[in-house]
Amino acid sequence: ALERYKDPDPEDRAIPFAEQDAWEDYQSGKAKMKFGAADKKKADEYEFVFEDQVQFVQADIMSGENEPMDEKESRKAAAQTEHEHILEERKKLPIYPYRQELLDAIEQYQVLVIVGETGSGKTTQIPQYLHEAGYTERGKIGCTQPRRVAAMSVAARVAQEMNVKLGHEVGYSIRFEDCTSEKTKLKYMTDGMLLREFLGEPDLKSYSVMIVDEAHERTVSTDVLFGLMKDITRFRQDLKVLISSATLDAEKFSKYFDDAPIFTIPGRRYPVDMMFTKAPEADYLDAAVVTVLQIHITQPPGGDILVFLTGQEEIEAAEEILKQRTRGLGSRIAELIICPIYANLPSDLQAKIFEPTPPGARKVVLATNIAETSLTIDGIKYVVDPGFCKQKSFNPRTGMESLIVAPISKAAAMQRAGRAGRTSPGKCFRLYTQWSFNNEMEDNTVPEIQRTNLGNIVLMLKSLGINDLMNFDFMDPPPAETLMRALEQLYALGSLNDRGELTKLGRRMAEFPLDPMLSKMIVASDKFKCSEEIISIAAMLSVGNAIFYRPKDKQVHADTARMNFHSGNVGDHIALMRVYDSWKETNYSSNWCYENYIQVRSMKRARDIRDQLQSLLERVEIELTSNANDLEAIKKTVTAGFFYHTAQIQKNGSYKTVKNPQVVHIHPSSGLSQVLPRWVVYNELVLTTKEYMRNVIEVKKDWLVEIAPHYYKKQDVEDVGAGKMPRGKGRAASTA
Ligand code: CDP
Ligand code: MG
Repeated sequence: ALERYKDPDPEDRAIPFAEQDAWEDYQSGKAKMKFGAADKKKADEYEFVFEDQVQFVQADIMSGENEPMDEKESRKAAAQTEHEHILEERKKLPIYPYRQELLDAIEQYQVLVIVGETGSGKTTQIPQYLHEAGYTERGKIGCTQPRRVAAMSVAARVAQEMNVKLGHEVGYSIRFEDCTSEKTKLKYMTDGMLLREFLGEPDLKSYSVMIVDEAHERTVSTDVLFGLMKDITRFRQDLKVLISSATLDAEKFSKYFDDAPIFTIPGRRYPVDMMFTKAPEADYLDAAVVTVLQIHITQPPGGDILVFLTGQEEIEAAEEILKQRTRGLGSRIAELIICPIYANLPSDLQAKIFEPTPPGARKVVLATNIAETSLTIDGIKYVVDPGFCKQKSFNPRTGMESLIVAPISKAAAMQRAGRAGRTSPGKCFRLYTQWSFNNEMEDNTVPEIQRTNLGNIVLMLKSLGINDLMNFDFMDPPPAETLMRALEQLYALGSLNDRGELTKLGRRMAEFPLDPMLSKMIVASDKFKCSEEIISIAAMLSVGNAIFYRPKDKQVHADTARMNFHSGNVGDHIALMRVYDSWKETNYSSNWCYENYIQVRSMKRARDIRDQLQSLLERVEIELTSNANDLEAIKKTVTAGFFYHTAQIQKNGSYKTVKNPQVVHIHPSSGLSQVLPRWVVYNELVLTTKEYMRNVIEVKKDWLVEIAPHYYKKQDVEDVGAGKMPRGKGRAASTA
């Protein structure tokens, strides 16, 4: 369980967890086992694939509306130019025959719910149809996506279809990256970014149409958008609102939007053979890899494979194992092109998944559930579904939010299977049993708003002037306890007064697209005169846990390099600041990054984020001041944002959170994991084998009373059994 950095952009949320498990694996030696000598030996023999074969039973066929067709038919466009080919392709999409009917319906109704299977052309075509029909003469056409990667990649595709430069007529806007211009008519954006646009333009007057796409995903931001869009249609009769969804909960959307009509785009799907494993699989990652190899070797050439994994670290592990195992087979098998896709994959690599597979080769796409409905990859014939995804859950009583690997719902499993039958008949290999599907999986995923911390959203709504949250028109309301919890936290941070109204501080905090605690930290840097340092820290924390890397063969070197930044046991925030500053001193040198086992890409992203935070500082009139040598001032500033996240050491060397006591530990990746200071504040909690605090600094208990007097009284922060610290380590860290 963890309380962690929240942001309006759900794609980003996955980042801080990117390596949590990998680290555990390194620690426990599990990773070594996975790539051990036994595997290598096996990979040397062709037969290895069948030695540990995953056993499937065919259960069912997911029926398709289409008869199997000659596969070559869809690949005949050889002589065309690329753009002509694209225009041809547009006409083949299932939505195309309904173009006029759809435009008529939009003309007639203000709010329309549109349902169509993934890949039918909703996201890429509808905005273009509207543009062609003249809607852009009255304003922009907006289209929201729950995921960053989807917003970017779809915008790129549409720019290509329209033969314009990305960022001109077609653009996208995601957190910390605005790729639009004056010219932009079609704007793709994350749902979180549209929420932020409401702050500057509450009536969305620059838009003529707003499409809330992927509505079935039910992210918190999308759910809040529903309420805001419903409200806005009452006073902006000229604004068209389209709610678009891949699944059939359309009735619910329609009902919510005062019985808006539903426009259904008939699907075109080929039959999919459904396979279940005979017995439960103990290690789904390994089973997934073996299944991919089985498919690759036993199935006829042509037809790519899509594997659903839960996150970056799993995808990277699978990629590595696949590479290792196929390397040994050499030319005995056809080429297997491995394409990973996850939230913070750099955009140049994202494009690779859409490149057509060369004849004779087979592509395997290793994806998070972004490929469930947000992205359509043509040519997929086989789906491997381990049946898991990363899911948030929130306990309002303890205030702990955690991201855990959880079984997917039946609805999600059906979506995943459907990906196999888009362009030809396909097969779906489920790495769970039919019994498990029938008896253990929920029908639908619980909307995110009911299992997440709402601090951020509440601050946003308050700044939009929506005060009565208990009566906000939520499609599915969040638990009252969660709302109370968010209000209480914002009050403790000083962003709300005791009547629940936004304070001046709260208004400044809301300017930052960050979790309220991070925003508070930044605003507090004004007082401690260290805004330069604090925005570096905030930017580095926002990048997540992808700063340091630790190659398996150079772990010792990597650890030594990393610990250099920790000298003096300054704590992780200060270490991150030192990393940033040192990189800056080398004039942002990539070489320096390699030498220090630091990921260049993450550093570049940190720099972009920092630049944006810097311009936001101006907006809230905080001067850029540097105070790099006063570590106490910096730590106090961090404390001003994160005093809510304080933990105190216990006699046995574990920690206990101060409010809502819970046992936690310092994450092994922390510079303080061997130091064990008495009092720490932490950035976030992650649940792996234990409850870990990640990114911690040492604080003095007196600071808590000094900085957050309304929250901590002297008696809250008494030392436990003074003088009896575990293993004497508690004293070593007196650098705070
Ligand atoms: O939104 P929906 O799932 O209905 O479909 P879409 O995303 O508009 O996709 C329509 C077509 O565009 C599919 O054939 C995709 O493969 C293609 N597409 C693409 O080639 N590259 C992208 N970045 C996005 C879509
Ligand atoms: Mg779509």
